[in-house]
Amino acid sequence: MGRAPLAKRCRPGASMGSGQHQPVCVANSRDATLHHPVPMLLCPVRNCRVELVRDGGGLLCACGHSFDVARSGYINLLQPQERRSKHPGDTAEALSARRRLHDRGVTTPLLHGIAGASAVSRSDVILDAGCGEGFYVGSLAGETGCKGHGVDISTAAIQAAARRYPRCEWVVANADRFVPYADQSFTLVMSITGRMNPGEFRRVLRDDGRLLVAIPAPEDLIELRGVGRDRLARTMATFTPGFTLVDRQRIATTADLDAAAVRDVLHSIYRPLRPQPVAAMRVTFCLDLLLFRPLR
Ligand SMILES: C[S@@+](CC[C@H](N)C(=O)[O-])C[C@H]1O[C@@H](n2cnc3c(N)ncnc32)[C@H](O)[C@@H]1O
Ligand SMILES: [Zn+2]
Repeated sequence: MGRAPLAKRCRPGASMGSGQHQPVCVANSRDATLHHPVPMLLCPVRNCRVELVRDGGGLLCACGHSFDVARSGYINLLQPQERRSKHPGDTAEALSARRRLHDRGVTTPLLHGIAGASAVSRSDVILDAGCGEGFYVGSLAGETGCKGHGVDISTAAIQAAARRYPRCEWVVANADRFVPYADQSFTLVMSITGRMNPGEFRRVLRDDGRLLVAIPAPEDLIELRGVGRDRLARTMATFTPGFTLVDRQRIATTADLDAAAVRDVLHSIYRPLRPQPVAAMRVTFCLDLLLFRPLR
């Protein structure tokens, strides 16, 4: 595992003062003891983007656009024209394969590496963009007591996240287009092998917040797919217009997997079909973590 600090390590986000926004409070009311403002959800309808407020069992904007809150608590803000397929985002197979790997503890060292690199604390309000079934932000919220929000385009992923981590807020939305939250809502935005929308990440991040981007390192799953591309330079270039890089590190872990778990890894990276039968093997998981601060 290599680590290349580029500047002083960041301290946890400053504790938050009184709320800038009126809470919509679509998240679970069990959070009421926490002292962060609840980020305000915005209407995703093009040219609307005003505050969403509670209306019975759903959400409503001042222009009359309404959205359901599912029984499990998640909110679907995906607009029909944003679906490129009937079921956009990760498939149920990829989701359940990834979940089984998380449950085996394979990704726990990565979770702890991410928590350390972004110095997550109880005072954080986190957005995970492309959160999948919520493992990272859901676990961080559970372990630290911070406030967690996840956005993913896959309804199946968000459904699973809402069931597993009911204390967090889960939204189905296309994070490539519009992240449906008010400006300056979050102390930490995370993209863990997820979406990269620098403009929207900057908009919803507080001026004193931080952005954690995790990308597969070249050695990630090297036993299964050989040496991968080095995405560092391109990723840094993607974010440097609005952000400055303050820390960079490479985290890695290996796991001795049986054949079923190796198949799960292949499903999780959308490569389930192989010419040879899959055998038990040691597999390397390796991420490059980039921590950015927003430019003002
Ligand atoms: C490689 S997975 C990573 C999931 C999760 N961050 C993790 O590390 O376990 C990428 C995720 O991005 C989601 N996704 C793809 N396009 C998206 C979009 N336009 N907006 C939001 N999420 C999207 C997929 O559904 C999938 O859950
Ligand atoms: Zn509206």
